[in-house]
Amino acid sequence: MAKFNRTHNNGELRIENVNSEVTLAGWVAKSRNLGGLIFIDLRDRHGITQIVGRPENKEVYDILASARNEWVLQVTGKVLERESKNLNIPTGEIEVEVSNVKVLSEALQPPMIIADKTDALEDFRMKYRYLDLRRPIMQKNLMLRHRITKAVRDYFDGEDFVEIETPVFGKSTPEGARDYLVPSRVHPGKFYALPQSPQIYKQLLMISGMERYYQIARCFRDEDLRADRQMEFTQIDVEMSFVDERDVHEMMEGMMKQVFKDVMGLDLVTPFPYLSFDEAMERYGCDKPDTRFEMELKNIEEECKKMNFSVFDALLDNKYANKINPNEIKAINVKNANDKYSRKAIDAFQDYIKQKFKASGLAWFKYDGNSFNGSIAKFINDEVKEALIKKLDITSGDLVLVVAGPKSVVNASLAYLRNKIAREMNLIDDNKYNFLWLVDWPSFEWSEDENRFVAAHHPFTMPKDEWKDKLLTEPENCYSKCYDLVLNGMELGSGSIRIHEQKVQSDMFKAIGLSEEEAKVKFGFFVDALKYGTPPHGGIALGLDRLVMILTHSQSIRDIVAFPKTANAMCPMSEAPSFVDDSQLKDLHIAVTEKEK
Ligand code: AMO
Repeated sequence: MAKFNRTHNNGELRIENVNSEVTLAGWVAKSRNLGGLIFIDLRDRHGITQIVGRPENKEVYDILASARNEWVLQVTGKVLERESKNLNIPTGEIEVEVSNVKVLSEALQPPMIIADKTDALEDFRMKYRYLDLRRPIMQKNLMLRHRITKAVRDYFDGEDFVEIETPVFGKSTPEGARDYLVPSRVHPGKFYALPQSPQIYKQLLMISGMERYYQIARCFRDEDLRADRQMEFTQIDVEMSFVDERDVHEMMEGMMKQVFKDVMGLDLVTPFPYLSFDEAMERYGCDKPDTRFEMELKNIEEECKKMNFSVFDALLDNKYANKINPNEIKAINVKNANDKYSRKAIDAFQDYIKQKFKASGLAWFKYDGNSFNGSIAKFINDEVKEALIKKLDITSGDLVLVVAGPKSVVNASLAYLRNKIAREMNLIDDNKYNFLWLVDWPSFEWSEDENRFVAAHHPFTMPKDEWKDKLLTEPENCYSKCYDLVLNGMELGSGSIRIHEQKVQSDMFKAIGLSEEEAKVKFGFFVDALKYGTPPHGGIALGLDRLVMILTHSQSIRDIVAFPKTANAMCPMSEAPSFVDDSQLKDLHIAVTEKEK
């Protein structure tokens, strides 16, 4: 490997190199004067090497003594065995006695500490991102991201995939978030949309006969940003012809195996377990369950019927008042909670789920090995007590949390509490990687706002074989060939087998209330393309950023993206977005009606 202007990097020298003459370059991470000698930790992205200046070589000594943190130096010298070794770093047995030094660049005093542990606030780190990215942990994250991407490319290359770039300036795709629009100068009043994903293009590539496509693809979505969401993010985007669900899964399991082996040295066990959407909702209350811990949701309606508690009775008497969202009563058992959660803490949970999920309340009881106490303890007679102990596997010290109400509210509230409590009680093993395929998704969701069914994934998703001809007669019962890959409670990816038959596609549009005319306006060129010989095909897209987050154990997506945006969609460093000149707006035929203060 060509090294240019240095013989080694700063993470490379070992005891075997003693007595060799080397040239190093890097940043001054730390310097100290001990007993008349100058010691400097010279840093680059590979590590740190200690260099030493002795007073006997006055010229070198004076320069090293004057060097401040973050100056950039090039030094030449001899590798010596250290008297006091630092076995915490790989180069800790040696140091380099400097015979020649060149200051490549001086530096202002940096406004933040350049070390893994920094007290700088995130906005400040993002303002000085080039300094933040000098922190070893950030460099490690970016290097691991590179290695993951490389393993992905190696794998798909070996499987006969072709990497193809698709346009960034395009027409809006049906992913469901808001589009970022780019005004056209040459077509007044018209806009390009940045792709929310290359969905339509990758399907067109199958119609084109490319058979196996992948792309490390940039996607853009104007949605509320969160710890695992950026407005621009990267997908490992995949599409294959002549496949069914299991073929896509197998291909992606192979990719994950290679990534984990190449990057982490870990052997993943495949196939990944399968969980149906309905079972996931029943047992975990959500479609991306973290299965690294238990605390599953249990339906306790039978037990509640015998309580004589008017609130529960009223709910169950009207169980199907809303057929699509019937009432349920479910519970989680927080094992060995003992006094971990006071009444006040439980009240805080209740306030949160009331506000966030519109829950009507949080009922609870604790068991001391003898009796129950808590908000609904007085309704629990001996018979119900025995039944609950059995159903929820209650032992002394357990805390049971109960939510009653519409199914969607109950599930969302308990799924939230399950995850939150598991984190607070340290029930999650960070070294576990629990993958699962979430399958058998309903084809449609009922939209209260629009009073119609909408496609649960996108309208090109193939229904399961047995539901293909029932899209118009029983939409509420239809399931589709759609799947999510879930890792440690995070939606890592999502995909489906696509519709390649025109009749099914036309039924699908009708089922979501799109007339042929409307479908033509929205997806005209694509619907036309389907008519020219479409192979059965399917695919998936994985969030590369989310995969990197999990493998680097990062809490925020912003720690694994080189130049991310803040939660309110701006860049403190470049100050994007910004106002532009009136002349630019005029060129684009745009009049701004409101400006941010
Ligand atoms: P979907 O919209 O589910 O599917 O996206 C696939 C995956 O992309 C990641 N992702 C994001 N990551 C970071 N920031 C975001 N704002 C963001 N939005 C999504 C997630 C998600 O699972 N075209 C379909 C895929 C297909 O059917 O093949 C699609 O884009 O990890």
